[in-house]
Amino acid sequence: MSIPTPHIEAKVKNDFATTVIMPGDPKRAEWIAKTFLTDAKSVTSVRGILGFTGMYNGKKVSVMASGMGNPSMGIYSYELFKFYDVQNIIRIGTCGTYKKDLNLGDVIVADSVVTNTNYFNMFKNNITKIEPSKELLIKAIKTAKLHNIKVNIGNIFCTDTFYTTEDESLIKKHNCLGMEMESAALYYNAKILKKNALTICSVSDNLTNKKELTSKEREKSLNNMILLALNLV
Ligand code: HPA
Repeated sequence: MSIPTPHIEAKVKNDFATTVIMPGDPKRAEWIAKTFLTDAKSVTSVRGILGFTGMYNGKKVSVMASGMGNPSMGIYSYELFKFYDVQNIIRIGTCGTYKKDLNLGDVIVADSVVTNTNYFNMFKNNITKIEPSKELLIKAIKTAKLHNIKVNIGNIFCTDTFYTTEDESLIKKHNCLGMEMESAALYYNAKILKKNALTICSVSDNLTNKKELTSKEREKSLNNMILLALNLV
């Protein structure tokens, strides 16, 4: 396959930076590009999955949405890594939590993803835990310290189904701080394609006290996570 790919319309590899920051939501990608980047240019909008490339603190960086769930993240991260020579993808997303002591907006850096996804036959092949790029993880921890951003580092749980309760036992067994739906595919693609990936999440809903961010808050109030990702570049 060559570029453009079936799902990304950017015509040359150089349209993307070597690092792509990936929120799930296309509107959040657009908001980040407009708010934090200079000279941001649209590079793709196939199926409403918006991608932009611009500059942050003198460095070229791209922001592109992943859509929701492992299959969607799987397609976009695979095409960026494999066909656009992207080296690093930093997912920034929201997650739910069962932890009473985590508040809405708290930031989690996923040093491991526990999953029951069947993306790439992972579940069939008994792959239920997958690690990020050690280099990005260490850099994220250092960057958070440098910028005074409080982060919680630990396992997260990645599921294929939002409306489910049956995963609670795995979440508790592995002491997962958060749960979301994209990181297993991202970490797996990075592993097989020898690239780097890391997930940084903000807590958007706490299932123990039923508190949750509104969709407007989700779009705009996740600055710590966004700034951590941008300063990692
Ligand atoms: N479950 C799965 N994914 C999520 C959640 C959740 O509770 N919240 C945000 N993304």
